[in-house]
Amino acid sequence: MAQPPERYAGVDTPALLLDLDQVERNIERYQVLAREAGVVLRPHAKAHKCIEVGQRQITAGAVGVCCAKLAEAEALAPLGNILVTTPVVDAQKIGRLVELARKAKVSVVVDDAANVAELAAACVQAQVDLGVLVDVDVGQARTGVQSGASAAELAAHVKRSGLRLAGMQGYQGRLQGVANLEERAALVREAMQKLTDAVRRLESVGLECAVRTGGGTGSFPIDLELKVLTEIQPGSYVTMDTNYAKVELGAGRHLGHPLTILASVVSRPTADRAVVDVGWKSASSDSGTPAVRGGTGLTFEFAGDEHGIIRSGAGRVELRLGERVELIPSHCDTTVNLYDSFVVHRGGRVEAQWPIVARGRSQ
Ligand SMILES: Cc1ncc(COP(=O)(O)O)c(C=O)c1O
Repeated sequence: MAQPPERYAGVDTPALLLDLDQVERNIERYQVLAREAGVVLRPHAKAHKCIEVGQRQITAGAVGVCCAKLAEAEALAPLGNILVTTPVVDAQKIGRLVELARKAKVSVVVDDAANVAELAAACVQAQVDLGVLVDVDVGQARTGVQSGASAAELAAHVKRSGLRLAGMQGYQGRLQGVANLEERAALVREAMQKLTDAVRRLESVGLECAVRTGGGTGSFPIDLELKVLTEIQPGSYVTMDTNYAKVELGAGRHLGHPLTILASVVSRPTADRAVVDVGWKSASSDSGTPAVRGGTGLTFEFAGDEHGIIRSGAGRVELRLGERVELIPSHCDTTVNLYDSFVVHRGGRVEAQWPIVARGRSQ
């Protein structure tokens, strides 16, 4: 709810706050669980887009990070080990991918034979090493080959092309947000069966699938038990949001919410309405509205690009002009993408400003 004046001293609003104690706890929680299960963690950096957060994930034991787009990977190249989880298809982009592979250990997913041929030609010419993983559609109906037989065929093509066949990716994003753990577990098991079938097909033609990568924050506890994946790609676990707050993760897997937006009350036109300086341009709305942290009975609603309205179930809103409130984003990825930097704090004491270097890097 309303902030004591010493918290976030000197921070202008709207600001994207990151509670470092909580970030460290979330990183540690998933890392320990992965280590205990003997599974590799490769967190998805699309959630935070920040070198300093990625470094902490790697220091804790992650093998590297995932990036959704090439430009994101370019910005996060200092992290040293990157899997691009979306196919890179255009000649200009392939040129950039090859350049990136000179600076970092890079791998990329593929779902098309012509794309494999183009990647192979570019890598041979530039003499760079690129890991290639066959993307298998395990139910997301987005990218990925459609059957185990097609996966084996494409993997054989990768092998013949001279590229390094690193493994397979099977990501099912729509299951991540299924709130009930048992229901989600049944759906994840079904999705992972498709990946298992593809692995068997590969093995039946003498091809090894060393890395089986996929999964996210919601499937994580299930993936740890199933062990179909050798590498898990959770993204939101580090920042969290209200959307994920609804997703049951099970005992011992609780994740806190380090990511908040600091907003200021800029107008008190009526007793039942406090207007704050956060609107669509500073909080994403694709997954609903942000929640008011600690504000029992207080709700936020969007009131345009630059404004939001806080109301109270009690009718009268007890917030003064200039007073500050913290909002928990409904979707971390799309909110992070709206800011240049995180204001990093411990318990409200500001420690640093971390650039969100891959913000807007969607090409
Ligand atoms: C390929 C891939 N892997 C992993 C993730 C991470 O998912 P989450 O943020 O649900 O942990 C995403 C998110 O969109 C993704 O696209």
